[in-house]
Amino acid sequence: MILDNKLNNLLDIDQLTKNDILYIFEFAEKLSLILNGPVKKVPVLRGKTIINYFSEPSTRTRVSFENAGKILSADVINVSSSGSSDEKGESFINAVQTLESIGADILIIRHSDSGAPYFVSRNIQIPVINAGDGSHAHPTQTLIDLYTVYKSIGEIEGLNLTILGDNIHSRVSRSAVLGFSTLGAKVTFCSPTTMNANFLSDNISKEDIDNYPAVIYTSNLKDALSESDLIMTLRTQFERKASLVFPNINEYTRLFKLSNESLKYAPDKAKILHPGPMNLGVEIDGYLSESERSLINQQVMNSVAIRMALLIILIGEHTLDSI
Ligand code: CP
Repeated sequence: MILDNKLNNLLDIDQLTKNDILYIFEFAEKLSLILNGPVKKVPVLRGKTIINYFSEPSTRTRVSFENAGKILSADVINVSSSGSSDEKGESFINAVQTLESIGADILIIRHSDSGAPYFVSRNIQIPVINAGDGSHAHPTQTLIDLYTVYKSIGEIEGLNLTILGDNIHSRVSRSAVLGFSTLGAKVTFCSPTTMNANFLSDNISKEDIDNYPAVIYTSNLKDALSESDLIMTLRTQFERKASLVFPNINEYTRLFKLSNESLKYAPDKAKILHPGPMNLGVEIDGYLSESERSLINQQVMNSVAIRMALLIILIGEHTLDSI
């Protein structure tokens, strides 16, 4: 099995075909053997330097990329805006070109501006992975979510995914709709109308819109959950002023929080996803994240294998057969 397209960067999930996604899963599956073995260290990326450049907060993405790189024996350097020359007014382009000149083999970029990793990839020669850009895209999170469902349920074709909550600010939901549709799932967005903007048409060119998958939009939680196989709740992004688009938090949680009560609308088999970090009691009740219907811990656990696979594909010498 090989990739349909040579991958030089990973900026969003629409670069990947179904075959590409399944190839990455197969790679991750093999790498899981290392993660579950007695010595979590292989010399696959020895001599390579990975720089995590994060100008927005992160726990899961930054640490799992760091762990993935270290398990593969790469040198990993973390840079954040705070404490870097960003604070002295250095331009973003100078910053990333400096990191390339210092010897990075790949940049993993999280940035508050949508499109920032695209801009970087046009201005440096080394690969770039988008680790989340503004409200735009989070392709590695989508690969993790798809892989988690694939491992838990198997075939994704024909599943109904409901993405519940702060869709308007969510880079996770933008990438998820592309990734889950590529593997044949049907996607429904459910939010208050003010959070359920038809962002696909708001954010892409008219020429591209016909290529985007069909999505159902609803503000009716009962309708949205009634045929769900998968329910992905989203973090309410207060830092992006989410609280301005609903009257008050109590009303929001009463109508849209995933709880035992609201889950009664969903089939018993429906599984719960959340990309994290969670606002417990706002978009989801804490006990549900620990319940047997939850795949949330598996999402986090699978993040290292998926990110290891991407690092090898982008800067390693190994193929799936030689790993
Ligand atoms: N899901 C996700 O991107 O989490 P972090 O912000 O903790 O990286």
